Amino acid sequence: MGNYVSTKAEIKNYICARTPLIIVDSSERERVERMLKEISSELNIGINYYTDSKQVCTFNGDIKQDVDNDPLGFIAAQFKKNRNSTFAVGDIKRIGEDNVYSREVLNILYLAKETNCTLILITADTVWSRLSQFGMLTTLEYPDMDERISQINAFINMFGGKYTIEWDKDDIRMAATLLRGFSEIQIDNILSTTLVSKRKLSKEHLFELTDQKSKLYSAVASIQMVNVNRALTVAGLDNLKAWLSEKKSVFFASDDALNARDLTTPKGILLAGVPGCGKSLSAKMVAKEWDLPLFRFDLGTIYDKWVGESEKKMKEALQFIDNVSPCVVWVDEIEKALSVSDSGNDTGKRVLGQFLFWLQESKSRVFLVATANDISLLPYELFRKGRFSEIFFVDLPNAAERKATIEQYSSKALHIDISDEEMRQLVDASEGFSYSDIEYVIKDIAQLALIKGQPVVTQELLLQQFNKLIPISKSNPDSVEKIREWGIERAVAASSKSGGIVK
Ligand SMILES: Nc1ncnc2c1ncn2[C@@H]1O[C@H](COP(=O)(O)OP(=O)(O)OP(=O)(O)O)[C@@H](O)[C@H]1O
Ligand SMILES: [Mg+2]
Repeated sequence: MGNYVSTKAEIKNYICARTPLIIVDSSERERVERMLKEISSELNIGINYYTDSKQVCTFNGDIKQDVDNDPLGFIAAQFKKNRNSTFAVGDIKRIGEDNVYSREVLNILYLAKETNCTLILITADTVWSRLSQFGMLTTLEYPDMDERISQINAFINMFGGKYTIEWDKDDIRMAATLLRGFSEIQIDNILSTTLVSKRKLSKEHLFELTDQKSKLYSAVASIQMVNVNRALTVAGLDNLKAWLSEKKSVFFASDDALNARDLTTPKGILLAGVPGCGKSLSAKMVAKEWDLPLFRFDLGTIYDKWVGESEKKMKEALQFIDNVSPCVVWVDEIEKALSVSDSGNDTGKRVLGQFLFWLQESKSRVFLVATANDISLLPYELFRKGRFSEIFFVDLPNAAERKATIEQYSSKALHIDISDEEMRQLVDASEGFSYSDIEYVIKDIAQLALIKGQPVVTQELLLQQFNKLIPISKSNPDSVEKIREWGIERAVAASSKSGGIVK
């Protein structure tokens, strides 16, 4: 596992030690070519190189020879003639198992060993074990943070004169974070496509990079990409919002800054509380505010009756998440999925253990937002420190939050001005309502206005409809009270003042 610098140093060492075979595990051939070219000049050795399109050539352009798509004869002849020589192959096929071609490569390796020569193979595929025994394997990872930053800077230098690029140092760092998991060529493609289509690069284009990312990976059944409406607004929940805006800078801090203080990125939050008060909506809000792609992880689909299948599915899902990071992962109604794991069957417990272990140990920049109504169903292990960064309790909206919600929905759906006195009446009438209750009443009236015309929208109608609705806090006071008791005692309030009074 290595970045450009460490992989290059490794290859240099292997060449100097005259290892017969060096396997460079990478799907980025051009990047490895560039590296070999640098090595060739730094060590002052000629490296012959083959690909189907180039045939045999040297990096300094001295030799060019067509070998009719079969370099093996040429390599054998070279190794016989020139001791201590090096040959690299960029297009190597059919060497995953024992076959005629692999045997021919094997013979070349015996020869290389005798004549102190080195064969370098660039491949992302597996190599037949008898071949790999001859050499050393080195893996070139996709560009790391520093490399991505330099690549973006180089891109800006190249196009900054022609197009407006408004990214400052922090934006470049953010772009580099978002482009994790892409090859050098993909990064160039994404930057160029975004630049060409928008004619400029500004802050607002950062999230476009994450959209590209979601297109790249093939889906895993238990995980769906959720498109987040960029105009989404959430009323109230000021504590939660303040916490998120503070943690955003920690989530996007550089590895160096985090390491210097022995920190990891925030792992995620558990949002518990009264139905209809914005738990699910807040998962989307995090993705929107942090400009990250949002993936919904359906834990329920992980459980499988066949032995080993659940573990396999969980492993695949967690690998997928690690790959698409940085991202927000949303597990909705986590208690429903996890209570399966409590049904006394071992698979459920193991899979939950796998999930919790990943949550604690994963080094990827993944922010988990889990929501729950009935916390009593959740396994105790989930609450241990180090799992979630914080557990928030989402309560019924207080008067100020109800006002904000009425303003938000009435301005969008009702197109009316509400006086201070009218607003006070509506805020009073909606006591004990959830945010979604308020939305429901207002949208209901908006539908009426659509059918019958704007004049039907009056303060009287609003008050009448608010008074008619029986919110869950009245229809089901015991269950709401139970949720609130738990939340007030064991979690941090998502709003700075206590919620609506349940009568
Ligand atoms: N804080 C809020 N601001 C604005 N709208 C809200 C808010 N909370 C809820 N809503 C509205 O109510 C709808 C339902 O909210 P949401 O699905 O987030 O509730 P929830 O807490 O997840 O409820 P449940 O426990 O039933 O899943 C949202 O789609 C949104 O339209
Ligand atoms: Mg919900």
